[in-house]
Amino acid sequence: MKRRAPVAAPLAEEEDAGALDVDGDLAEAELHGEAPDPLAEEDRRFEASLRPQALGDYVGQDAIRSTLEIAIRAARERGDVLDHVLLCGPPGLGKTSLAQIIAREMGVRCRKTQGPAIERGGDLAAVLSDLETGDVLFIDEIHGLPRKVEEVLYPAMEEFELDLIVGQGPTARSMRLGLKPFTLVGATTRAGMLNAPLRDRFGSTFRLDFYGESELARILHRSARILGVDLHPDGANEIARRSRGTPRIANRHLKRVRDYAQVEHAQAPIDAAVAAAGLALHRVDPAGLEPMDHAILLAVLDRFSGGPVGIESLAALLGEERETIEAVYEPFLVQSGYLERTPRGRMATERAYAHFDRPAPSGPRQGRLL
Ligand SMILES: Nc1ncnc2c1ncn2[C@@H]1O[C@H](COP(=O)(O)OP(=O)(O)OP(=O)(O)O)[C@@H](O)[C@H]1O
Ligand SMILES: [Mg+2]
Repeated sequence: MKRRAPVAAPLAEEEDAGALDVDGDLAEAELHGEAPDPLAEEDRRFEASLRPQALGDYVGQDAIRSTLEIAIRAARERGDVLDHVLLCGPPGLGKTSLAQIIAREMGVRCRKTQGPAIERGGDLAAVLSDLETGDVLFIDEIHGLPRKVEEVLYPAMEEFELDLIVGQGPTARSMRLGLKPFTLVGATTRAGMLNAPLRDRFGSTFRLDFYGESELARILHRSARILGVDLHPDGANEIARRSRGTPRIANRHLKRVRDYAQVEHAQAPIDAAVAAAGLALHRVDPAGLEPMDHAILLAVLDRFSGGPVGIESLAALLGEERETIEAVYEPFLVQSGYLERTPRGRMATERAYAHFDRPAPSGPRQGRLL
């Protein structure tokens, strides 16, 4: 049978088998056929060992957790499939963890793939037609799905059907193929880049918030238990305070401080002083800002006189991708009051001036003449 775009027959062999992973963590390198980077691989394994496995282990995000708990219980009691779920938020706040927890709590498989890795509609059709009833299909970085692939997803999400075109030329005909009902869990760090038709097809959308210090401290105590590290409450608080509201960063800091305590302090327990010294070694300042945060804020303060500065100019000056600044660094700087986004560009706040011991300009800065 000859096939043709937009969608290849779904039972084709999975040519891009590396793009799909069942209930596991997928290394970026595997997706692109590169040799795995041993460092990234180690980070991935470290992260996987600390991933919460059940909703009960998932700290914080209380509103999301209770809404999901009810939805999962209700679906299970009715023997239904859970509605499609969209998870938005900056990196490291727990989207992938939550997707895997949803599958586990529903008692179904979690198949995992990444938006940009699905190049053709046929690839997605193959993945979809392979799902069992109730399975979770987790598409990470779903904003990166190519447009053509996204269109395959619409009828699949809405009616659990695939539109196929079979044959070619004048004899081509379209055919509908039924799928087993499944739950799509999409995750994105760039909710704004999602097309409205896709966004609207999710039954629920959850926006993950940065974590408070006491939540991060709880996460750190749990991680320390798993790793067999002696972490004092004041050590946990010190690390939490420097973790940019982000569990991934908190865990990464814990690992660095553990290494530091082992090598420099004969495996002494981690208290506030050890944590502070260990993190200072990695150029994490007392507020948790790291070298790239400093570079961004200092560029706005010194090179653009406090702003406003357009994101493109800032990106060019720093030699960093605009998207990376917007998705990875900026959300925390804005949320914690160092940077302000205005229609005319980014501006340093008084807090930013104070952080770098610079006198804040006097008078209303919004009034600066163009
Ligand atoms: N609510 C939480 N409770 C406990 N640990 C958490 C929580 N959220 C995240 N973590 C920890 O942080 C790590 C990173 O979380 P996760 O990979 O789920 O983030 P993410 O939002 O998917 O990030 P990305 O956008 O980069 O994919 C996990 O390995 C886990 O250990
Ligand atoms: Mg993730």
